[in-house]
Amino acid sequence: MNTLRLRSDNCGDLQTAAEILKKGGLVAIPTETVYGLAANALDAEAVKKIFIAKGRPNDNPLIVHVASLEEIPPLVEKVDPRLYDLAEKYWPGPLTVIMKKSDTVPAEVSPRLDTVAIRMPSHPDAREIIRLSGVPLAAPSANASGRPSPTSADHVITDLDGRINAVVDGGSCSVGVESTVVTLATDPPTLLRPGGVTVEELEAVLGPIAISPAVLEKLKDGEKAESPGMKYKHYAPKARVTVIKGSFENYKKFILAQKIPACAVCFDGEGMYFANAIEYGAENDGASQAHGLFEALRKVDESDCETAFVRCPMIDGVGLAVYNRLIRSAAFRVIDLDFSIPVIGLTGQTGAGKSTVSKLLEKDGFYHIDTDYLARIAVDNSEVISALADYFGNDIVTNGILDRRKLARRAFSDPIKQKKLNAIVHPEVTRLAVEEIHKAEKSGAKAALIDAALLFESDLTCVCTFTVSVVADEEIRLERIMKRDSISREDALIRMNAQKDEEYYVSKADFVVSNNGENITKEIGKIIERL
Ligand code: TXA
Ligand code: MG
Repeated sequence: MNTLRLRSDNCGDLQTAAEILKKGGLVAIPTETVYGLAANALDAEAVKKIFIAKGRPNDNPLIVHVASLEEIPPLVEKVDPRLYDLAEKYWPGPLTVIMKKSDTVPAEVSPRLDTVAIRMPSHPDAREIIRLSGVPLAAPSANASGRPSPTSADHVITDLDGRINAVVDGGSCSVGVESTVVTLATDPPTLLRPGGVTVEELEAVLGPIAISPAVLEKLKDGEKAESPGMKYKHYAPKARVTVIKGSFENYKKFILAQKIPACAVCFDGEGMYFANAIEYGAENDGASQAHGLFEALRKVDESDCETAFVRCPMIDGVGLAVYNRLIRSAAFRVIDLDFSIPVIGLTGQTGAGKSTVSKLLEKDGFYHIDTDYLARIAVDNSEVISALADYFGNDIVTNGILDRRKLARRAFSDPIKQKKLNAIVHPEVTRLAVEEIHKAEKSGAKAALIDAALLFESDLTCVCTFTVSVVADEEIRLERIMKRDSISREDALIRMNAQKDEEYYVSKADFVVSNNGENITKEIGKIIERL
């Protein structure tokens, strides 16, 4: 199919769009929120085409767009009087209202539901196209299912060229995130999706409303989505996105410590510090972030970075809508880098007695975080497993469980493969380590202790208040390893020589603890003093 590009300033183009819609075709239209993929809402066959063109799960209901209040009574069982109050304040505009539906609405519009979602957009092209076609238009966002929503005609073309009859280019969308969705079919009304009209603005008309748990959190397995759209992976670029909470200072330290090229999706004026930066709006200005968000997520794909770290917006006003989209694009990965306790990174050569030091500190009220253990947990994560299988071959996984030996054989045979393994596993270890630090805070520990043999090779140093290397004389380390692992002197030496030398550990650390057996309590006293 050849996708026509139409424009409102071309005489007759909106009429062409309306004709296509009247004949049961699909036209992507601009709205003030995002571009919508429109079809005649009263034509079941036309509506079915929307699901096919987008690759949309067929239980995800559509919003019906109208240009005037008179179009609504035939679509609903009964017009809720509160609709008129909402309409007076926020229509035309970025608000969708759900009510009990009438038999006029084809089942395909809201499959298996007894409700229908209705919105009156404010974009002049959208209003004119609805008026010219003479029917209400069912329209989801005009992206391929799962991708960031389109805020320009080019985004629509990227996703749907050849799959739809036409796109009307009406410039870039002013709001930038999809409409607020509120249902009047529950008591009290429930916010199903935050958007350009804020909770405060809704409550000014409706009184207190409920907020669906899916707005801010991942639904638990088996939990029913009040809004089916909220259960699907959404708004996601190909890169692995993580939302980063906390100060810009901590964000900067974190990005600069990354071992693989990462895209910094940050606020205006912050990009200059990073090699790959995409700015998405002004800090503390939800409306400007909403406007830039989806364009930024699409740019992440163009950057070729495999990971992206996004600065977290304020979670109120329109920022709530931005946060809601971001956590979905990040598959709910959120890292909070602001800690209220010091974080100490502990490392050292094999046999230097790092474990002894960490046990003593644990006794003294430090919360021990074992990164070897976290690395084992990290490869239980289904996303990590599937990324590993994509790269190292599906046969490293049997029944969803990773064959660690097979993976090790493949990865350690080649430095490039080993690097790839680290690139997949380390970010998850970091995320888990940060979660542990927050557990440490809650437990009342005086500090968190990150115990990591490869501390300086990882990005974990960026969360450390200071780092400590444990060292010991070579002869003492040799004796300890032979005894600990019951191995010969030669084998112990091989292990020791495979590691970086003492100079490396000493030069990289903020603090050095010498653990030759005596005086260890005094040495540790130095760390505690430093706190
Ligand atoms: O701003 C917008 O709302 C854009 C523009 C094009 O108008 N449209 C849009 O549609 O975002 P879509 O399909 O991408 O998102 C509609 C959301 C989905 O999460 C869907 O599950 C929910 O609204 N929804 C639609 N009808 C519903 C219903 N009857 N009950 C519950 N949720 C409904
Ligand atoms: Mg959508």
